[in-house]
Amino acid sequence: MNLIFAPASPFARKVRVLILELGLQDRVRLQDPGAITPVSNNAVLNAVNPLGMLPALELDNGECLYDSPVICEYLNHVANGPFFPAEADPRFRALGLQALADGILDLSVALRYEAAMRPQELQWPTWVDHQNEKIERGLDALETRCSQFEASPLIGEITVACTLGYRDFRFPDSDWRPGRPALTQWFSQIMQRDSLASTVPT
Ligand code: BEZ
Repeated sequence: MNLIFAPASPFARKVRVLILELGLQDRVRLQDPGAITPVSNNAVLNAVNPLGMLPALELDNGECLYDSPVICEYLNHVANGPFFPAEADPRFRALGLQALADGILDLSVALRYEAAMRPQELQWPTWVDHQNEKIERGLDALETRCSQFEASPLIGEITVACTLGYRDFRFPDSDWRPGRPALTQWFSQIMQRDSLASTVPT
């Protein structure tokens, strides 16, 4: 298998963490196709994903999977892993937590592009404020749910860790920790896992 990824992509990081957790390093090649932005075209990526979005996983049979939740579930299936429970209650709890954390990531990546790429005169402060409010509400929801997080992480917890890591990486001046003691403590613990510690974005 071939994973098309970008080192800074938090969605690709989720997949890389799963690969390490599942011991699939020898079965998945990592391919960085070079600069990818929402306003650039990358031929390598477009050839396998019409949406031109990362990450994309090329399978050995020539098919391609995207986006990160689908890729993660596929890899978990291949390795018969524990990250996507089969039973309904834990499964939908895990998928729901993944959706919440992915949602915070979607908003954060959009804000990152707004700040880093959009010409200053085209920026829209009202839009930025509303995205930041959604992110803050999402982070508050994580703080509330934190006491119910699984001790042995599932896809939800892995996604939360990658989301908080992306906040630290791209928004160091907007620390999510103040007022969220449970999440702060949980994050420092889960970051001791090799899979997460070895994939911190730089
Ligand atoms: C980033 O540089 O923040 C980034 C890169 C790829 C995908 C998403 C975000």
